[in-house]
Amino acid sequence: MATKTTTSVTHYHVQKSRRKKFVEDWRANWRTIVTVEDAPLVETERGSRVGVYVGADGDRQTRTMDALVHEIDPGVTTTVHRHSWDAMVLVVGGQGWFEIDGEHIDVGPGDSVHLPCWAWHRTGVAAEGTAPLRYMTFSSEPMLETMGMSVLEDAGHAEFSTLPPRPPVSEPVEGDDPYARRQRRIARQQGERRSGRLHTSWDDLELLNTPRGTRTTFLLDKAIGYQASGITMAMFEIGPGRRQSMHRHPGEAWLYVLEGTGHSYEGTEPEGGTDYPWKKGDLIVVDHFLWHQHFNDDPDNTAKVVRIHMFDSLLETMRVLCDPLVLFEEPPDHIRDEQAGDVSTIEWPALERPSWP
Ligand SMILES: [Fe+2]
Ligand SMILES: [Fe+2]
Repeated sequence: MATKTTTSVTHYHVQKSRRKKFVEDWRANWRTIVTVEDAPLVETERGSRVGVYVGADGDRQTRTMDALVHEIDPGVTTTVHRHSWDAMVLVVGGQGWFEIDGEHIDVGPGDSVHLPCWAWHRTGVAAEGTAPLRYMTFSSEPMLETMGMSVLEDAGHAEFSTLPPRPPVSEPVEGDDPYARRQRRIARQQGERRSGRLHTSWDDLELLNTPRGTRTTFLLDKAIGYQASGITMAMFEIGPGRRQSMHRHPGEAWLYVLEGTGHSYEGTEPEGGTDYPWKKGDLIVVDHFLWHQHFNDDPDNTAKVVRIHMFDSLLETMRVLCDPLVLFEEPPDHIRDEQAGDVSTIEWPALERPSWP
């Protein structure tokens, strides 16, 4: 017998209330500074201690990237694992090593490492080490989770040679039909994606001056050979008492404070917002299209901050999906002129590796 379900609630109403709740939840999630104290370290079965600055496992929801801190004691090696997302590593203290698909990479404070998707990796510290290795990771796991594509596989302490390789990719084939073209396109892309750069040593960094009292360098970006999911890391050094210029753009964008103390202006308008203080180890969160500007409050020392955002994939996509909406804005002229401030030359100190604590 045929049945028919009737309901007085239309698709339109269900969708409307669901969408409203979704945005309300997100607005309740407004963050400015996540301090180092907000991310306490917890022992894990991997052998490391992990703290969550931003991420579902620390009950701080996020849509595109997460931010975690890890510590590993001398003599400890973590389990080996791989996952469908990739992660950017920023070492902030201690000495140690990463093994990525069998390749051994020694690291120290200020170094950056890329953990590509599906690459087996583990981390360790020599037994004679004197301090824990401490590093931040910024991963694309939340972005993949929104599409139902988060996959994690832990293989305990297995040797790399006994582990299965990355998912195989079909060889490119001849032909001009759409399927042949797709196979060739994907084979070519994976060839590139699987041979990107993995490591930037602090010792190789060269900072370039900008006109406004900062100097900057890429840490992990396609401009210097990385093949990541679109997350990029760059470091800014802000001169004593200097500031970055104000602007706004879509989130999620973060600044990890590597060295120094200062504050950030964040507001729904370029004036009348709030100043939030920060210090070494804190994560400055810029989201909800807030106007923002970062200030080094120390009159004698520079501040070093590492900027992380998912520009090369998600934000580029948003730019074209939202066109002609403007997604990067500078404040009105009178505010910009007033901010020009001191443009005198800065005597930059020698670049020394960061340390923790
Ligand atoms: Fe991992
Ligand atoms: Fe910004």
